[in-house]
Amino acid sequence: MAEVADIAFFQELEQRPDPSLKQEAQGIPLIDLSCPDIDAIIYDIRHACTKWGFFQIINHGIPSELRHKLEEASRKFFHLSMNEKRKVRIDTGKVLGYYDTEHTKNIRDWKEVFDYTVQQPTLAAASVDENDHQVAHWENQWPQHPPEMRQVSEEYAKDMVALGMRLMELIAMSMGLTAQRFEEFFKDHTSSVRLNHYPPCPSPELALGVGHHKDPGVLTIVAQDDVGGLEVRRKSDGRWVGVKPTPNAYIVNLGDVLQVWSNGEYESVDHRVIVNSEKERYSIPFFLK
Ligand code: OGA
Ligand code: NI
Repeated sequence: MAEVADIAFFQELEQRPDPSLKQEAQGIPLIDLSCPDIDAIIYDIRHACTKWGFFQIINHGIPSELRHKLEEASRKFFHLSMNEKRKVRIDTGKVLGYYDTEHTKNIRDWKEVFDYTVQQPTLAAASVDENDHQVAHWENQWPQHPPEMRQVSEEYAKDMVALGMRLMELIAMSMGLTAQRFEEFFKDHTSSVRLNHYPPCPSPELALGVGHHKDPGVLTIVAQDDVGGLEVRRKSDGRWVGVKPTPNAYIVNLGDVLQVWSNGEYESVDHRVIVNSEKERYSIPFFLK
C-alpha cells in the first residue's frame, strides 16, 4: 500500500475517527434463523429494520467450512505479489477483479479488494443515462493462485444468493406482503461478492478502510473476521458505533433499493470501516442487487 502521508487517504476533519470516543454498540439485534417460531423472527426483523437498519444473524445455514475456505483463499490471494494480483486487475472494459485504489466520496480507502459477480456474464446497464439502452456484459477474472479460488468463490456466492432470497421472504412478510413479493425482481440480478483486505495502517486516526457510505443495492450480508472495525451510524442518536465480531454470524444491512421498496420505512444505514496500526482485517460482503 501507499504511505499514509499520501494526502489522498486523509479524511476531512469531521470524518476522522476519534479513538477516545470508540464505542461498541449494545443491543444490535441478533436473529436466530433456526427459531421454529416464524412469527417471532418476522417481528424481530421488522424491529431491526425500522430501529437499526441492520442486524446480525446466526444459525443461517451457511456451512462454516465453506466460509473458512473462502477466507483462506482470500488471505492467500492478497498475500501474492502486486505483480500477480495485477494480472486480474480492473481496467478499461474490465469492471471485475482486483484493485487497490477505490475512493469513497473522493477520499482513498485504506484497503484492497477483489470483486466478482454471481451470474456469468452479468448483464448491466452500460451507463446511468436512462435513454441509453445498451447492455454491458460483465465477466469475472480469476487468478491462477490460489488454485481453489474460483471454485470456492462460486460455491459461496450460490449459498449467499439462497440466504439473501430467504431474507427477502422474511423482510417481505415483515412488511405485511406475501413472502414471494420481491422474487420477480431478482430474475436477472447483478449480485456480487467482494473480498476486502484492510492492511495495518500507520495512521489510523487520519484514514478509513472505507469512508462513510450507504450500500446502493437491496441488502448486504457481511462476513467479518475477529478484528473488528465496521461501524454503523446508530439511528437513535446518530453516533458511530462498532459492530462487535460474533463468530460465524453474518451482519445484514439494508441498502438504498430496499429503502425505496419500503417507501422509506426501512432506511438504508450509513456505515464505515476504521483501520488499526497492528492488525490486518478481512471481510467478505455479499451485495444482493
Ligand atoms: C462495503 C462495506 C464493510 C466491512 O464494502 O461496502 O461496507 O466490514 N464493508 O468491510
Ligand atoms: Ni458498505
